[in-house]
Amino acid sequence: MADLCCHRRTILAVLLVCLTLFGSLLVQWPSMWNTFLRPKLAKSDVPVNNAAVNITNTTILVWYWAFGATQILRGNVCKDRYGIPNCILSDDRSLFPQADFVIFHNRELITGRQTLPLNLTRPHKQRWVWFSKESPANNGNLKPFAGQFNYTMFYRHDADFCTPYGWLEPHSVRTGMTVEDFIPKNKSSLACWIVSNFKAKYERTLIYNKLKKVIPVDLYGGAVHRRLPTKALLPTISHCYFYLTFENSIFEDYITEKLWRNAFGGGAVPVVLGPPRKNYEAMIPKDSFIHVDDFSSIEELGEFLKKLAGDRERYATYFKWKLNYTVVRHSNWLLEPYCQICTKLTTLQTPKVYWDLQAWEWKKSRRAAVNQSIN
Ligand SMILES: *[C@@H]1O[C@H](CO)[C@@H](O)[C@H](O)[C@H]1NC(C)=O
Ligand SMILES: *[C@@H]1O[C@H](CO)[C@@H](O)[C@H](O)[C@H]1NC(C)=O
Ligand SMILES: *[C@@H]1O[C@H](CO)[C@@H](O)[C@H](O)[C@H]1NC(C)=O
Ligand SMILES: *[C@@H]1O[C@H](CO)[C@@H](O)[C@H](O)[C@H]1NC(C)=O
Ligand SMILES: *[C@@H]1O[C@H](CO)[C@@H](O)[C@H](O)[C@H]1NC(C)=O
Ligand SMILES: *[C@@H]1O[C@H](CO)[C@@H](O)[C@H](O)[C@H]1NC(C)=O
Ligand SMILES: *[C@@H]1O[C@H](CO)[C@@H](O)[C@H](O)[C@H]1NC(C)=O
Repeated sequence: MADLCCHRRTILAVLLVCLTLFGSLLVQWPSMWNTFLRPKLAKSDVPVNNAAVNITNTTILVWYWAFGATQILRGNVCKDRYGIPNCILSDDRSLFPQADFVIFHNRELITGRQTLPLNLTRPHKQRWVWFSKESPANNGNLKPFAGQFNYTMFYRHDADFCTPYGWLEPHSVRTGMTVEDFIPKNKSSLACWIVSNFKAKYERTLIYNKLKKVIPVDLYGGAVHRRLPTKALLPTISHCYFYLTFENSIFEDYITEKLWRNAFGGGAVPVVLGPPRKNYEAMIPKDSFIHVDDFSSIEELGEFLKKLAGDRERYATYFKWKLNYTVVRHSNWLLEPYCQICTKLTTLQTPKVYWDLQAWEWKKSRRAAVNQSIN
């Protein structure tokens, strides 16, 4: 019964296809006629497989370098460094007329050190990318850029090119490895914090001021004239049971290198001040961190940390996830995401224009319920 049914459908489908073909033959007769009359190409000029031969390069133009830190582009950077073929990354402005994408880092635009090349004729196919890794609190006024950009490169997950500060990848460890192998020995400080910007009005400063009354907190960084050289950063953090991973502002997905590089990389348990716990749990295991919001007061948080540091078994549970995951970050925070544009071409919405970039940037601004902690 079912077979017969399918059979009938097949016959119908074949008939339909034939009719369609016949119809299109009639419609396209003039152009086909053209094809027949056109001089034949020499045999060697005829591509055997168009799809394979007709590969075009995508040109990505870096209009200027973020923070003025010029990177030297030698050879075919995307292919040589990241194995991404047919992707030409350049900072040569003379390529503007043929560039498929042009990248503009936000900081220089809002400070006026750089401007959009509005005086040049923008090729029809060219797409402009707005790039920032800062939170909306530090991106300035984006209203002047309404209608200019086609795509966003941002840490947020709904950006066209999402460039988070880090992420986890599953891995399997050598058999016989235990959680203890992931906990640095010689813990000597209870809690550490590296702070470069120590404004009294910052929420994180208020929390620190309360916390230091309950537990000792070792402070480092420019703000307290105890700057750590890069190579001393992770070794210093590894001596701390806990690392205060306090973001400078609280926005969805705004989870920075303070977590990925400092806390996770240094082997300290992060105590986070940032977006709500749920947002963290979308990216990292729920037992890999302590959230300031988990406590009804900073005193309670301090007491908890004190107890946890003294309970080896319980403390170790915060490292269990390291048996299954490894932390990954971009090997070069500019070049890698720039080249990766070429790997996303087929998934991009086209055409697309950010008619109100400012509104898009702020639409996810949700303050976490941290007020309770300060009181
Ligand atoms: C080859 O690629 C170019 C540029 O994308 C396109 O315009 C052209 O139609 C392609 N030719 C064939 C035969 O597919
Ligand atoms: C693409 O770029 C590479 C490297 O610059 C070059 O060798 C190649 O000829 C280019 N291909 C096309 C189709 O333009
Ligand atoms: C267009 O403006 C840029 C600065 O954004 C400048 O460097 C360039 O010389 C100008 N080009 C023309 C053709 O006016
Ligand atoms: C821990 O400290 C001891 C003594 O201070 C030292 O000998 C040892 O190398 C240290 N271990 C690590 C992993 O830093
Ligand atoms: C980690 O992986 C092991 C197997 O390799 C598995 O038994 C265990 O459930 C995993 N743990 C977590 C937290 O995913
Ligand atoms: C890119 O943005 C410009 C400026 O709004 C617009 O004119 C153009 O059509 C957009 N291109 C694509 C492919 O979305
Ligand atoms: C949290 O504090 C901010 C200002 O510090 C205030 O605008 C907001 O209403 C407070 N939210 C709650 C839930 O108390």
